[in-house]
Amino acid sequence: MHVPNSTSSSPLLSPEDATAVLSLRDEAATLALGAALAPTLHPGLVITLEGDLGAGKTTLVRGLLRALGYGNKVKSPTYTLVEVHVVSGLNLYHFDFYRFNEPEEYLDAGLDEYFQASGPNAGVCLVEWPDKAGAYLPRPDLRICLSVDGQDGNAGRKAVLHAPTARGAACLTSLSSASSNPVR
Ligand SMILES: Nc1ncnc2c1ncn2[C@@H]1O[C@H](COP(=O)(O)OP(=O)(O)OP(=O)(O)O)[C@@H](O)[C@H]1O
Ligand SMILES: [Mg+2]
Repeated sequence: MHVPNSTSSSPLLSPEDATAVLSLRDEAATLALGAALAPTLHPGLVITLEGDLGAGKTTLVRGLLRALGYGNKVKSPTYTLVEVHVVSGLNLYHFDFYRFNEPEEYLDAGLDEYFQASGPNAGVCLVEWPDKAGAYLPRPDLRICLSVDGQDGNAGRKAVLHAPTARGAACLTSLSSASSNPVR
């Protein structure tokens, strides 16, 4: 994994962004990746969760929320667009834009207000189906791309974590130093 030096202003990384690839053999592994991410989070961070229907995006958020101490059922925001959680002093905004027909629905719903970099309402934005908001979505710090890994019905998942900003790269650095998962 290549992780350049990070700076406080979180500039874009170049020429090579930080990347990690993980093998998640079952649901527990996806939950564990979410849990491992939990201590790396800071207000203002934008994380996109990409992958087909059923790839494990909500499962990862569930693991993250549980690790922060959230004890209630974690609902998918497919119908509500956003689920707001305040846990361990952190605002967590969990979005799912799957049902958008047009990217403009992101603006019409006023969702850009959640993506504040600082201030009392700033939080961590976790976004499922970010492509559905097109170019309106702020640049992510961390992209987590999940895909089915294997052919059989019990296939696990592959996770590719890609950090286009220094803030995202700092998350990956913490994750790789804390995790027992192989990072290659
Ligand atoms: N690593 C894994 N291996 C096998 N199954 C997994 C893994 N991670 C999650 N799953 C399973 O995948 C199924 C779908 O998970 P989840 O609802 O999180 O997907 P999603 O990406 O949020 O889907 P959607 O796009 O519909 O919101 C669940 O049954 C979950 O248990
Ligand atoms: Mg989901």
